[in-house]
Amino acid sequence: MTEAVAFPQDRTCPYHPPTAYPRLHEESPLSRVTLWDGRAAWFVTGHTAARTLLSDQRLSTDSTRDDFPLPTERSATVRRRRRAALLGWDDPEHNAQRRLLIPSFSLKRAERLRPRIQETVDQLLDAMEAQGPPADLVSAFALPVPSIVICDLLGVPYADHDFFEQQSRRLLRGPTGADTEDALTQLEGYLGDLIDRKREKPGEGVLDDLVARGLEDGGPDQEELVQLATILLVAGHETTANMISLGAYTLLQHPERLAELRADTGLLPTAVEELLRFLSIADGMLRVAREDIDVAGTVIRAGEGVVFSTSVINRDVGAYSDPDTLDWTRSARHHVAFGFGIHQCLGQNLARAELEIAFGTLLHRLPGLRLAAPAEEIPFKAGDTIQGLLELPVTW
Ligand code: HEM
Repeated sequence: MTEAVAFPQDRTCPYHPPTAYPRLHEESPLSRVTLWDGRAAWFVTGHTAARTLLSDQRLSTDSTRDDFPLPTERSATVRRRRRAALLGWDDPEHNAQRRLLIPSFSLKRAERLRPRIQETVDQLLDAMEAQGPPADLVSAFALPVPSIVICDLLGVPYADHDFFEQQSRRLLRGPTGADTEDALTQLEGYLGDLIDRKREKPGEGVLDDLVARGLEDGGPDQEELVQLATILLVAGHETTANMISLGAYTLLQHPERLAELRADTGLLPTAVEELLRFLSIADGMLRVAREDIDVAGTVIRAGEGVVFSTSVINRDVGAYSDPDTLDWTRSARHHVAFGFGIHQCLGQNLARAELEIAFGTLLHRLPGLRLAAPAEEIPFKAGDTIQGLLELPVTW
């Protein structure tokens, strides 16, 4: 067996897996990594093993268990004490929470949101064109698109975006555990007040629907409402923003693929799937075994941590030919960029609609779009599992 390597590691290129991960996969679909606290965990890199394990309910997402594998000291500070709604619960509790939200995140609902997403994208590009060039595509476009859309959908005032975007940033990459904890407390305080106001004066968002469900017998109580609102608001803008910025950067680094997409916008839905696979921005899903599990010739013992390397799983040669190449003609749909099994991304229909509209409109409106700084100088997010760019200077 190979010597355990550290997890997580930083990417050297923002759209390729860290160089040490694929080497592990060459040996076996399951290997060992060492976490920040010195503990070892299983590291899943095989596509078949990943899908088998992600649908196995003997793996738990309960981060308050002492043996749960956490990627950083700051996530451990928060997640050991409090588990996130949905993602931190196993069935049947998870299922009860998820059922409350399925209608609000259905494909039909996402399709109905398309005109409003298009309007948001158009307005942001109008403002960017009026101001520029150059522009920072992260702050002018990639972040506000999903942020405005999720605010509309949930019924959160976008006027408060500076506050909640800053707290989300601290929550996901604050300098210390104490800072991360404080960011979560602030976000929960803000959403708790908002929910109280909605109780007095109901509106039309998903949070208003949840507040109404809370009045029913067995409906969510205040604490659960706040936790659900927190995960929806944070997951609803951070991840998609990273996909838009890193996706735009990747397209600009692949001029032939970019030209194909400009020439035929019908390719957009498959291109979005391929970009999701290729970029794998949520690069690390975490579980702990509740019982012994026999998989791919290995036994994962009860109490052992399991880390899924989304980026390497999505580049398994057993599942994709020539996986390191960006290719619009492949069918990438069975990737695990949105996870797999009961926790598969609740917001995936919404994210797909946002990504199609954002990329399609950006390429159509700004045919001369290019980087305004050398590619290797563009800062990207390091030190954790969520990948993305800190800034993306562009001109056109
Ligand atoms: C491109 C953007 C996105 C990516 C790549 C992404 C990725 C993921 C992944 C990998 C998971 C599964 C994690 C695991 O199993 O450990 C997940 C779960 C989740 N995502 Fe997303 N996500 C995106 C956008 C969104 C959006 C727009 C929302 C809207 C609210 C959202 C809400 C959630 C929620 C609530 C869960 C937990 C589901 C559950 O536990 O049942 N995500 N996401």
